[in-house]
Amino acid sequence: MNLQDQSYTIQGLQPEEIVSEFGTPLYVYDSSVIRQQVAKFQKAFAAIDHKVKYAAKALTNINILKLMQREGLGLDTVSLQEIKMGLQAGFAPQDIVFTPNCVDFSEIEEAVEIGTVINIDNLSNLEKFAKKYGSSVPCFIRLNPFIVADSQSEKVAHWHSQSKFGVAVSQLDQAHQLVEDYGLHIYGIHIHSSSVIMNPEIFQKGAEAVFEMAKQFKDLQYIDFGGGIKVPYAPDDQTIDIFQMGERLHNVHQQFCREFGKPVQLWFEPGRFLVSDCGALLVKAVVRKDNGDRDFVGVDSGFNHLIRPMMYGAHHEIVNLSNPFGPRKEYTIVGNICEIDNFAVNRSMPEVKEGDLLAILNAGAYGYSMASTYNSRFRPAEVLVHEGKAHLIRQRDTYEDLMRNQMEINL
Ligand code: LLP
Repeated sequence: MNLQDQSYTIQGLQPEEIVSEFGTPLYVYDSSVIRQQVAKFQKAFAAIDHKVKYAAKALTNINILKLMQREGLGLDTVSLQEIKMGLQAGFAPQDIVFTPNCVDFSEIEEAVEIGTVINIDNLSNLEKFAKKYGSSVPCFIRLNPFIVADSQSEKVAHWHSQSKFGVAVSQLDQAHQLVEDYGLHIYGIHIHSSSVIMNPEIFQKGAEAVFEMAKQFKDLQYIDFGGGIKVPYAPDDQTIDIFQMGERLHNVHQQFCREFGKPVQLWFEPGRFLVSDCGALLVKAVVRKDNGDRDFVGVDSGFNHLIRPMMYGAHHEIVNLSNPFGPRKEYTIVGNICEIDNFAVNRSMPEVKEGDLLAILNAGAYGYSMASTYNSRFRPAEVLVHEGKAHLIRQRDTYEDLMRNQMEINL
């Protein structure tokens, strides 16, 4: 959605037209924004030998995966289902990274059969892997980092012991022992900082710590830096300078390769950065309700469609497309789920009437992919605007969908 010029169009199409064809609530994605973000990311890291693996979990529609594949990216997956969708979208198995956590070993065996890159997250599975495959199948190991700024605002990188993800750096001796005992071939290490990365300097410190630790892995060919790059959600949110991040990383990477004595390719797994901004959740204001204390706008959606505000307290900009420039008032925008279900609390925005069309922005990443049918409500439809045309890429749920897997017994 074009917010820069506040025309609120999508590749020249009016959201009202799209909604008149497909109804609300509706997820709408703009393929040109995805392409721009991909190009920006690639440009920022162009000086580095690198590969981008789109994090499928952010937005998993098969058409988005196809778009990423046509853009020349690989895929980061966390379940066998994501792998299968990736294959269906045209990704070659070797371009797919499988990074599950806490899964039964049988899932890893299945991914080996398929031929994806295997990234192992715990010593238990690493040992099973070493015993079964020895040196015949190479693997990545996921390490456990946490990159933060401390309270004195001095930038530091930590190895974080309270996270369930990855192998603790303090236990790496055990991984190296498996290399010795079974000839395990660890050709990649992976880190993903679950905090959103905002500051190139912190990222550089984190990268330096990773490179330092990477020297222990003699067979290393790849380092995967995961995802986690922040995007602005609110107008005054800080944005990361991804070009500065690329520049800083280039310098420390070059130095590392010199010291290591051979080239190591860097991988990245952005999700949010590539798809957050491309998507909006279009909803209709259906109820206005001023109880004297709060002025509510009830919309035909809820946290079952976009859970980020309720789950993380996340801010999403909301635009009144029916009255984008009117006098502002303060509203609490709520959904129709039978519990507290706020999209925004006491938000100043142009006056809203029943029947107005609202756009909840930055809803491309972790929007539909976290949607549910709670309250037995349908998940929305999804539309992709591609080359100036709106395509329905997922139908709205139906009653039959809700009932599909239920088995009625004689009671
Ligand atoms: N790689 C790995 C191994 C990950 O676990 C994730 C995200 C990514 C890459 C992509 O991270 P991104 O670039 O999108 O930040 N539901 C939350 C976000 C959870 C992220 C989980 N892992 C949200 O809505 O903010």
